[in-house]
Amino acid sequence: MLTENSMQKPRKRILTGDRPTGPMHIGHYVGSLENRVRLQDEYDCFFIVADYQFLTDHLSETEKIEHNIRQTILDWLSVGMDPAKSTFFIQSMVPEIAELTMYFSMLVSLARLHRNPTVKEEFKESGLRAMSYGFLGYPVSQAADILIVRSHLVPVGDDNVAHVEQTREIARTFNRIFRDVFPVPEPLIGEVPRLPGTDGKKMGNSMDNAIYLSDAPEEVCRKVGAAITDPARIRAIDKGHPDICNIYQYHLAYNREEAPDIAELCQQGKIGCVACKQNLAAKLNAFLDPIRERRAFFKARPSIVREAVREGNERTCQKGRETIDLVRQAMHFNYKELAGVK
Ligand code: TRP
Repeated sequence: MLTENSMQKPRKRILTGDRPTGPMHIGHYVGSLENRVRLQDEYDCFFIVADYQFLTDHLSETEKIEHNIRQTILDWLSVGMDPAKSTFFIQSMVPEIAELTMYFSMLVSLARLHRNPTVKEEFKESGLRAMSYGFLGYPVSQAADILIVRSHLVPVGDDNVAHVEQTREIARTFNRIFRDVFPVPEPLIGEVPRLPGTDGKKMGNSMDNAIYLSDAPEEVCRKVGAAITDPARIRAIDKGHPDICNIYQYHLAYNREEAPDIAELCQQGKIGCVACKQNLAAKLNAFLDPIRERRAFFKARPSIVREAVREGNERTCQKGRETIDLVRQAMHFNYKELAGVK
């Protein structure tokens, strides 16, 4: 008998997620988290905590990983990603991903991996002397993350677009050589693909230039107060250049309505940086307040996190088995007869 669910057209799938390298910041929100929350009803969403990827540039810090994973999931819950609607899971707990990575590794040339601009940039930032095989190859493992659930759409910030492109090539190559198993997934870039850090460089965990979703109100005020603005502007009455000001980028992202007026006042030298920053800090804190509240709620209820991950891992493994069966059939890798598999 058809249940109500099976009569509906199956929803398309999303897969995206994060490396558990530290707390998530306001750049992550407008880059990707906002899209995830918005699309949870429309799509069947899978959200991955990419702990294998943590190993690429944090190999000697694995004692932090469990704590970091918990923080990442609290970040997700606090922005409104909802395990009742979506599937949360941990990369290393779905072994089908590792298996799929193995097959995919045969479909990508070394030269192609060396050209990936995000890998190059991350290697430079990492300060490591040599690049491991796993570091160079992590985009292949990311393709397996995305394709293990045969995802159609991948909401990401702009630094991950290169990986989605590589995933699309892998999906096409597999489909061409063997059989049509995979959709060719599309990237979906957030409203603000790259929010600069308070110092104008890439917002990140390592350089104290990020405003975290978990920062206390005073911390937000302190960081905004210390941010670099238009360097040519010394006195409040000097004419400002919002297009080169980090704080203005934050107004565009988090104070959209007032942003055009602020740009005008700044250009005319009618609003000083101090007032402009105070306004922004207040807007950011108003945005962050409900997020802080939800974080406190979930932090006090660890069983919600535990159940979300347990169920999510299980659901993803199930979907992963389905994909691996299709892959092995397509590749003539099903030795049912030979090995007496029922
Ligand atoms: N590379 C992503 C990051 O930098 C994390 C990630 C792992 C991911 N697997 C993914 C993102 C699959 C999108 C899809 O945080």
